[in-house]
Amino acid sequence: MTGFEAIRIDKDEKGYHADYQTMEDADLMPGDVEIAVTHSTINYKDGLAVTGKAPIVRRFPMVPGVDFAGRVIASTHKDFAPGDLVVAGGCGWERRIWAAGRKRRGFRRLAGPLPAGLSPAQAMAIGTAGLTAMLCVIALERHGLAPESGAIVVTGASGGVGSVAVALLARLGWRVAAVTGRPEEADYLKGLGAQEIIDRAELSLPGKPLQSQRFAGAVDTVGSVTLANVLSQIQFDGAVAACGNAQGWICRPAWRLSSCAACRCWASRRCGRVLRCAARPGRGSRATSTRRRWPG
Ligand SMILES: NC(=O)c1ccc[n+]([C@@H]2O[C@H](COP(=O)([O-])OP(=O)(O)OC[C@H]3O[C@@H](n4cnc5c(N)ncnc54)[C@H](OP(=O)(O)O)[C@@H]3O)[C@@H](O)[C@H]2O)c1
Repeated sequence: MTGFEAIRIDKDEKGYHADYQTMEDADLMPGDVEIAVTHSTINYKDGLAVTGKAPIVRRFPMVPGVDFAGRVIASTHKDFAPGDLVVAGGCGWERRIWAAGRKRRGFRRLAGPLPAGLSPAQAMAIGTAGLTAMLCVIALERHGLAPESGAIVVTGASGGVGSVAVALLARLGWRVAAVTGRPEEADYLKGLGAQEIIDRAELSLPGKPLQSQRFAGAVDTVGSVTLANVLSQIQFDGAVAACGNAQGWICRPAWRLSSCAACRCWASRRCGRVLRCAARPGRGSRATSTRRRWPG
């Protein structure tokens, strides 16, 4: 197979750009398995990489694509023979220079055999997002939670990870509360098995550190203030599987803590108080308060 299609991300004099390109076999990265990709899925990180919204591409040029399924076309590894169906997800194929779109070359450890009973299309419909959701559910179970423990809250519920988590938990018999910022998705989430829909706004603003115990556990894909609120509403002996930060970080750059000029301790410039630095008492330095503030 020569002349196959791929999206190539580059950063040069034109700036950061992603273009649809035809690539050649010589462009493939080294490896012991060559795969003709039959199915793929656009993952959250592919979206970040293609739009350049977050600095997740560290080497250029790069061809994104963390999830794919396909058929082996050449292999020097004993585990795979031409014709084998394989699946790969989120584990390095996108990070190497010159990975490629419809054809991949990489190392055996990055791919696994397609599980029996699953078609390549089904595997990609689940994708790494679905796998992550399943790992979250397993984590809750391993922490001793069971459907009779109480309700599980899922944040970012209409997203890739959240929606699969809602479906899996409901199918396993849990009572699921789905948090979403999109009321128009309420019927979809109820169709997946959610019994309660919570407006994202209820959890996305700073709350008290200890709130009433509302949920036995949580699958959190949102992080930040939402995760803080979820944690403060978890019952005694509950568990939270936190796997994402779609809401971002708690600290915004404006509150970044900068180190004290005298002794490099962490100090906030915004505080403005002049305090004595404990390590170097003779030197006054602006502000050694490390009090963190909620966003808002
Ligand atoms: N996809 C993966 O394979 C994977 C694997 C491991 C970890 N993760 C992490 O999990 C997180 C979610 O990934 P995803 O693939 O599910 O992404 P996604 O499909 O874009 O879903 C993210 C969801 O988060 C909610 N959300 C977005 N911005 C928000 C905000 N400012 N405040 C509150 N909620 C917000 C939205 O849900 P509503 O519209 O319902 O409100 C959105 O649908 C990411 O941080 C990602 O890095 C993803």
